[in-house]
Amino acid sequence: MKYFIGNWKMFGVPKSINILKKINSFQLNDKNKKKYRIVITPPLTLIEKFAAYSKTKKIFIGSQNCYHKDPFSSNTSAVSAHMIKSVGAKYTLIGHSDNRAEGDNDYILKKKVQFALKNKLKIIFCIGENKIEKKNKKTLTILKKQLTNVLEKKFNKNDIIIAYEPIWSIGTGKLPTATELRKITIQIKKILKNIYKKNTFPVLYGGSVDGNSVKIFKEIEEIDGFLIGGASKSSKKFIDIIKNYYR
Ligand code: PGA
Repeated sequence: MKYFIGNWKMFGVPKSINILKKINSFQLNDKNKKKYRIVITPPLTLIEKFAAYSKTKKIFIGSQNCYHKDPFSSNTSAVSAHMIKSVGAKYTLIGHSDNRAEGDNDYILKKKVQFALKNKLKIIFCIGENKIEKKNKKTLTILKKQLTNVLEKKFNKNDIIIAYEPIWSIGTGKLPTATELRKITIQIKKILKNIYKKNTFPVLYGGSVDGNSVKIFKEIEEIDGFLIGGASKSSKKFIDIIKNYYR
C-alpha cells in the first residue's frame, strides 16, 4: 500500500474541512482507492473536528507532533500523545525538521516515539540531511544516526513509517534526482533491516512534492508514498498528486 500524507503545518480554520470533503469525494470514486491510504495532519485545533468527520470515511487524521511527556504535565502549551489520541487522531508525525530545528534532539524524539506507540498512535518518523551535510557527502551517515539513535528493535515495526525529507528540498522546489532518491531509499531500508532484521518498513519521500514532481518519483518502486506540505493545502493540488501517480 502507498501513502499520501498531507502535512498542513500552520494552516487551516474549521471551515477548511471543505478541503477534506473534496479529497474524500475524489477518493470515493477513484478506481485506485484500494492501493493507497490518505492521512492528513492538520494543526491541533482541528484534529477533533476532522477526526469526527473522517470516522466514517477512508481518510485518516494525524497530529504534526506530540510532547515528550505523557499523559499530563505542567508544561505550558504542551500536548501529549494521550491527548491527541483522545480526540481521534490515528497518526502523528515525529521529528519533522521544523521541530528538530526548535530543539527536538534524539533523546526527546525517542521519548515522543515511546509515548506515541504507548498510546497506539502510528508514527511517521521524519529524517533528512541539510544542504551542507549533503554537500559534504554526509547524507547516509546523518540518516543512519537519526534512525539508530531513536528507533529500537522492541518498537512495533507495524506502527512506524519513515519519511525521508531532505531539508534542502522542503518548500524550495529543489528535488533529488530519481537515481539519488532510489539509492537513498534503498539505503534507508537496509539500515532499518539491520535494526529490525525484517524488511517491512514503509519509506516515504517528502520535499516539494506536487503534481509534477510526483511523475519523476513514481518510477521508484522502493518509495512507499509521499509526505506533502505546501501542495496538501489545496484539494486540487493534493488530488493531482494522486492522479498523476497512478496515471
Ligand atoms: P513541502 O513540505 O511539500 O512544502 O516541501 C514537506 C514537509 O515539510 O513535510
